[in-house]
Amino acid sequence: MQSIQMVLPAILDSVSQVVWVVDHQGRILYTNPAGVAALGYDDAEELVGLSSHETLHPHRPDGTPFPASECPMLQPATTGIPAHGNDEWFKRRDGSFFPASWWAAPIDLREGRGVVYSFFDATENRELERARRERDAARIRADESRAAQRRIMQSIESVRRQTARDLHDGAQQRLVSLLIGLRLTRDLLPDAATDAAALLDQAVTDAQTAIDELRELAYGVYPSVLQAKGLMAAVESLAERCAVPTTVEGEYLRRLPVEVESNAYFVIAEALTNAVKHADASHIRIRIELGGVLRIEVADDGIGGVAHGAGSGLTGLGDRVSAFDGILVIDSPPGRGTSVRAEIPVPE
Ligand SMILES: Nc1ncnc2c1ncn2[C@@H]1O[C@H](COP(=O)(O)OP(=O)(O)OP(=O)(O)O)[C@@H](O)[C@H]1O
Ligand SMILES: [Mg+2]
Repeated sequence: MQSIQMVLPAILDSVSQVVWVVDHQGRILYTNPAGVAALGYDDAEELVGLSSHETLHPHRPDGTPFPASECPMLQPATTGIPAHGNDEWFKRRDGSFFPASWWAAPIDLREGRGVVYSFFDATENRELERARRERDAARIRADESRAAQRRIMQSIESVRRQTARDLHDGAQQRLVSLLIGLRLTRDLLPDAATDAAALLDQAVTDAQTAIDELRELAYGVYPSVLQAKGLMAAVESLAERCAVPTTVEGEYLRRLPVEVESNAYFVIAEALTNAVKHADASHIRIRIELGGVLRIEVADDGIGGVAHGAGSGLTGLGDRVSAFDGILVIDSPPGRGTSVRAEIPVPE
């Protein structure tokens, strides 16, 4: 069997890792072919005998001096302790610099202690590292902006709930008392044909209209049924009020976190309004399913053909759903109806 010493030169010739030996004075004694190639030389003979420090980094990449006494790579020769670094810059024969990771170990030579080096060009690693950092930073920025969007959405919805409640408990109740008062007054007038009776009849009608309009307004701001009975009941009530025949399919839903319910509700409400306004549909189908996520769909049999990134309503839906880590898909082949589907994660 061949001894390892005999095959060692062949091994050093074939490895891609640089192996470089310097003597006790820091002069290059040996470099394998990988070391020659890494620095852009043609032959090891061009390097042997040169000062290792002066060859690798006679000055810093920015042109400032780099004295050998400050070079950490030479220290193993004096300390006898191995060293390693990732942030050194080496100079190629053509004068260009590259970042290098290096390892240095003391080695006892006949004339004194030298150093054996190994190093590699770290450009690619640094590129990868930079790309990784950029990706992580972009992810953090996206998470932060989604969280900010979610907070805005939650505060808008809480204002909506409060406003709807105030309209109901305040103005609407006052109008109801006014209506009752007017009716009682009207009943006190025995003669139905007087001017006063006619004015009171008109006032009763106006008060009733004002109550109806206020109720509709409060319903649009935040339907009380959503708060009181949950998503399924609110969507059923929406479907009943819809000008186009609308069916609601889906399982009975337990109550979900308020932001999930209102998010799903407003997606359905906007998709339904769109179907009524734009689709020329004869039927609309709403589907609600609760699995690991909440799945909702509003599908019409109308004209389809919704363009990608169409308008503020649909863009708002996308933002709304993605703020809650959900996804929104709009399928709208021309002439074959439109389906708006969303998946909204339900927190534990
Ligand atoms: N179900 C649908 N069927 C056919 N076309 C639709 C449907 N939904 C939306 N569209 C088309 O996509 C466009 C964009 O819809 P989007 O909801 O973003 O805006 P909008 O309804 O016009 O206005 P907004 O919702 O801001 O009041 C609509 O103007 C309409 O042309
Ligand atoms: Mg719209």
